[in-house]
Amino acid sequence: MIEEVAEAKQQAVKEFASASCAEELERFRIKYLGKRGLLAMFLKSIGKLSTEERPGAGKVINDAKVSVQQAFDEAKERIAVANQGEVAASSFDWTLPSYSFARGHLHPCTQVMDDVIDIFVEMGFKVETGPEVELDYYNFGALNTPKEHPARDLHDTFYISDDVLLRTHTSPVQIRVMESVKPPVQVISPGVAYRRDAADPTHLPMFTQVEGLMVDEGVTFSNLKAVLGEFARQMFGEERKTRFRPHYFPFTEPSAEMDISCGICSGKGCRSCKGTGWLEILGCGMVHPNVFDNVGYNREKYTGFAFGMGIERIAMLKYGIDDIRLFVENDLRFLKQF
Ligand code: DAH
Repeated sequence: MIEEVAEAKQQAVKEFASASCAEELERFRIKYLGKRGLLAMFLKSIGKLSTEERPGAGKVINDAKVSVQQAFDEAKERIAVANQGEVAASSFDWTLPSYSFARGHLHPCTQVMDDVIDIFVEMGFKVETGPEVELDYYNFGALNTPKEHPARDLHDTFYISDDVLLRTHTSPVQIRVMESVKPPVQVISPGVAYRRDAADPTHLPMFTQVEGLMVDEGVTFSNLKAVLGEFARQMFGEERKTRFRPHYFPFTEPSAEMDISCGICSGKGCRSCKGTGWLEILGCGMVHPNVFDNVGYNREKYTGFAFGMGIERIAMLKYGIDDIRLFVENDLRFLKQF
């Protein structure tokens, strides 16, 4: 039997070395190393040997098994390497047309925000940002809105403690900027703001604003109209008209809201503009002298204007979107249109 095993081992090593493909190798593996293969048979037949012969035969068979296994492993590796080369050589067809990758793009609000920033930066405004978790003082107090001021009711504030809140607008950045630099000041502040509003077609509890501020000697309401008029022209096009309506904000005096003529009915009046022909796009006004007092600017020497707009609202007006919630639902059928 010992010779038979030696012969089988030699035969196996030869056959593994000659195997030219994975299928052939597998056939040889089953033949020698399989559950019912030759080596398994030898092991089984040990039972028929005499007790003295058994240990010697067992060792010979196991040694043979190790050698055969090694020959198999080598053959397997050799065939795998050969296949790789073949696959690499055969599967790369240089004449195939390339295929394109699915590309993402910026969110419509990000695009509109970028456009707004570009327009103001071109007019000389610098970009400044401030914290979203803000002190009551910056969000309200310094903006001429003390604790019992009725305008606070409109803001539905998320309070974190008595003095700390989620900013309800980007206007507190005005105060931070004026506290840190002397006039002339010409900044815009893009960022997120929060209000305790339930989401509906025109409200989200978290939304985006851009604040603007220009302060120097001799800044007038005419400058405000020129800057915001130019902004509206660039954002919405030459054909749209603008108008200013008196309004109230605690931190500006006089205060106004700017409207643009409705793009759907060209100002004749339709459902979109509730029959008025106009759509409100932002709040603005001349910085209140009390605000200058709060930041240590000389109210006799300096004047300035400020404005604030909602980016989602601008995007809705620009693209004719009638529900602000679409911006945060992440429905690709909506987002892919921009
Ligand atoms: N902060 C105001 C708001 O969120 C918008 C605003 C109005 C900002 C007038 C201003 C301004 O700077 O002058 O409704």
